[in-house]
Amino acid sequence: MKIATNGTMFKTTKSPEEIINLFNTKEIDNDWSFVGYKLSDTGKWTHNYHRYPAKFIPQLVEKLIDEYVPHKEAYVNDPFMGCGTTVVTSISRGFKASGTDINKIAYLITKVKSTPIEPLYLNKKIDQLLSKLKFLNETQIALFNDKIEPLIPEKHIDRINYWFSEKTKNDLGKILRVIYNEEDEIVRDFFLVAFSHILKNCSLWLQDSTKPTRDLKKNSVNPYEVFQKHLKKMQSGNDVFYNVVPTKVKENLHEYLNIKVGDARSQSVSDNSVDLIVTSSPYVTSYEYADLHQLSTIWLDLADNLTEYKKQFIGTSYKKYENKRLRSSIAMDVVDKMFKKSKKMAKEIEAFFIDMEEVFDESFRILKHGGRCCYVIGNTKLRGIEIPNAEIFAESLQYSGFKLDRIIKREIPSKILPQKRDEKTGRFASNNEADVEAYPIEYIIIGLTE
Ligand SMILES: C[S@@+](CC[C@H](N)C(=O)[O-])C[C@H]1O[C@@H](n2cnc3c(N)ncnc32)[C@H](O)[C@@H]1O
Repeated sequence: MKIATNGTMFKTTKSPEEIINLFNTKEIDNDWSFVGYKLSDTGKWTHNYHRYPAKFIPQLVEKLIDEYVPHKEAYVNDPFMGCGTTVVTSISRGFKASGTDINKIAYLITKVKSTPIEPLYLNKKIDQLLSKLKFLNETQIALFNDKIEPLIPEKHIDRINYWFSEKTKNDLGKILRVIYNEEDEIVRDFFLVAFSHILKNCSLWLQDSTKPTRDLKKNSVNPYEVFQKHLKKMQSGNDVFYNVVPTKVKENLHEYLNIKVGDARSQSVSDNSVDLIVTSSPYVTSYEYADLHQLSTIWLDLADNLTEYKKQFIGTSYKKYENKRLRSSIAMDVVDKMFKKSKKMAKEIEAFFIDMEEVFDESFRILKHGGRCCYVIGNTKLRGIEIPNAEIFAESLQYSGFKLDRIIKREIPSKILPQKRDEKTGRFASNNEADVEAYPIEYIIIGLTE
């Protein structure tokens, strides 16, 4: 019988020392590296609709589903769905899928990526949209034909002016105006995802950088051309995805898809309902997702107050707790070590692991008896102190009621998922900016409910 979650009341099956030893002796499992896959494989179907920091590859989700969901019907969940890799994969199999993300742009991307659109209909809609905007590509005619009032969110005008040239800003505003005139919400959202994706290319944001850095020498691009090209790419992805998704799912998508903007610690998912959780969590003070997606957030007007918005993210440096206690002793040890170097960072790390312990409780609540959760996570270093995220997750899962079922150690081929960190800040950087490789290795920590 699955027992209700009740923190430290659980007898752990593995002590912290045993867990550390287990990780020290763990060999890399080459079956989980997916070395032979190309970008066309990892970006198949709708997976290349939108860039997303630290997204994982669909092949990893597919393999976990193959190993742990032998039945034809299943319910898969991702509490940190990001751009929806788990959700899209589950929908493609004809499974029910649910997920949450506190990031509003993540919700929009996942919704669009997991909603197949009838190809001929979509083709017609794209042609109509592009014909209304074609004048943006024809400079002379534009002077006469241009009656479209740009839609530029005034509230965020300072940020928009910081990132975009005057001409680009106006062209984008016109594209956005025409997109919002589309009456079919599904198609409109599809266009919005294309629009959101091209914002980085059209802005002064250093193209190779995940972090918000300006490149004042960046070559300007024609927003219409980039938008058109990306829409066509998305259209090809949709055509394939449409044929992959089973008809029963396409016809009753609302019964199969339950995604929300929300907190991973309290999902709107019933108790004992889910067969498998596949997820990758945020990292402590690594990505400030709200900052990284600020171009989309300001153009699509997704947050009134960016500072308040940021506080809701797990792993943010804007958080600390005074009256909550950690359960994991490996985590406590890390916090103690960090306390001697930086009290602020020690508090952030403590808050991160407390939040994650609450997420594990929630995973335990929603899983069926015999269900599994799979947390993909790498270890890192902050201010010279090792942060053994994987060991801490393994220990903490037990306090939420899980039996530690399996640990997979995998290499991440950098062609598929380049992940590097800046040694000073601990933050992610692109390959040519980074000092140290952060995750040449990562782990899949699998907990079982018994
Ligand atoms: C590593 S990413 C997940 C990427 C995802 N596996 C994919 O393939 O796109 C972690 C996600 O956690 C989200 N997140 C951060 N705090 C959250 C919270 N409190 N509740 C739910 N999601 C949160 C971030 O917005 C981010 O999308």
